[in-house]
Formats: sequence, C-alpha cells, structure tokens
Amino acid sequence: MSAVDITVVADAAEAARLVAERLAEQARAGGNIVLTGGSTPRHAYEIAAELESDWSKVELWWGDERCVPPGDQRSNYAMAKAALLDRLEGAPRGVHRMQGELGRDDGVAEYRHELTDVGAFDLVLLGLGADGHVASLFPNFPTLDVTSRDVVGSESGYEPFVDRISMTLSRLCNTHELLFLATGEDKAEAVSHAFADKPSHATPGSLARAADGTTRAILDRAAAAKL
Ligand code: 6PG
Repeated sequence: MSAVDITVVADAAEAARLVAERLAEQARAGGNIVLTGGSTPRHAYEIAAELESDWSKVELWWGDERCVPPGDQRSNYAMAKAALLDRLEGAPRGVHRMQGELGRDDGVAEYRHELTDVGAFDLVLLGLGADGHVASLFPNFPTLDVTSRDVVGSESGYEPFVDRISMTLSRLCNTHELLFLATGEDKAEAVSHAFADKPSHATPGSLARAADGTTRAILDRAAAAKL
C-alpha cells in the first residue's frame, strides 16, 4: 500500500485553505473531481469558489450521500450546493449528484449507471469519521470488501442514521490523487489508526489509498496529535 503524504497545519482554517487551493487548481485543469460530505469540507468549498469561480471544465461527483431529498439539511449535495455550486460563475460541465431521495437500492442502481465508462478520477476528496469511516463505508461493514461494483447501499454506522449510498473503496481509490481532510481533536484517534497503524477493516480510512496515484492528508495540529 502506498505511503501517505501528510501535511500538518496550525488549525482548521489553514487546512481548509490548502484543500481549497488544491480544488481550485483542479478546477482550472478540469477533469473528474469527487467531493466528500460531512461538515469539515464546507469552509474549503467556500474558499475554493472564491479562488476559482469557473468550474466549467469539471465533472463533479460525490463519494457518498445520505438517502434524503436534495434540499434536506443532511444532504451532502445540499451542503456542496450552498458552499460551492451556488457561488460559481461557471457551473461544472457535469454535476453528478447521488439521488438519495430514490432510496438506497434505486439510488445505487442509478449512480452505477451514471458512472459507466468513467475512468480514473483526477481528485477524490475524503473526510474521516471519528470512528474511522470514509464516505459511507463504516468500520467492519461487509461493504468494505465489495470490489466488483462501483457503488453500494448501506445502513448507516454513524449519525445521521439514514440509509446511505456510497462509492466502494475500489472506485474511490481509482484516482490520480486521494486527498483526506481531517481536523479537530475528536479525529485524533481515527487519524492515528488511519495513517500510522496497519490497514484494518476496523478503520476504513486505513484502507483508502490511491491505487495508482498519490494519497495525501491535510490535518490540523489537533487531529494530528496522536500520530
Ligand atoms: C458523510 C461523509 C463522511 C464524512 C465523515 C466526516 O456523508 O457523512 O461523507 O464520510 O466525511 O463523517 O464528517 P465530518 O466532516 O462532519 O466530521
């Protein structure tokens, strides 16, 4: 498994800025970008929109979604829409949101179809749960072993407890760059298991590495405290 290139900065604001700069750079270059959910990336998305308002060369994807309508406050798409999409002058060429409102079976089928013939992503952004989960792939869930499919449905192993749609590890890792963003002391344990321990199904973040590319992690000091 390839090594992770780790950058530790003073605080969450600085971590958001670094991730935003990387997103803006990829927006200028174009290609396929996969966004993550959760709340940590919100500020990075806002800054990325300020740094580059023309995303017209980008196809935008989501690594996971909660099975709620797109306007629901728990929706990963809703968060990215408010923090990033609504602030752009040049909309992405493609906005491939997961349709959580279809429920997990139909939502998975639809997104699998959407992903047909998509090759390696250019940039996949991932958060890290305090329990070590990535996207909606939870500790010790059977979904971690699915390699024959790009998208899976799952119960939730973490709040919010609504069904999930998630790209599989093999699909997420098929990227030129996998970029983790984790901040705050509640992530310190998970960060140390994900980046300093042996790969384990108990910490899905330890299994997510670019198959043929770079894996980077941008952390603030609090999240990196146990490394
Ligand atoms: C989701 C996510 C998930 C997220 C982590 C971290 O839909 O919940 O995509 O994997 O990245 O739970 O979330 P926070 O940034 O809110 O801590």
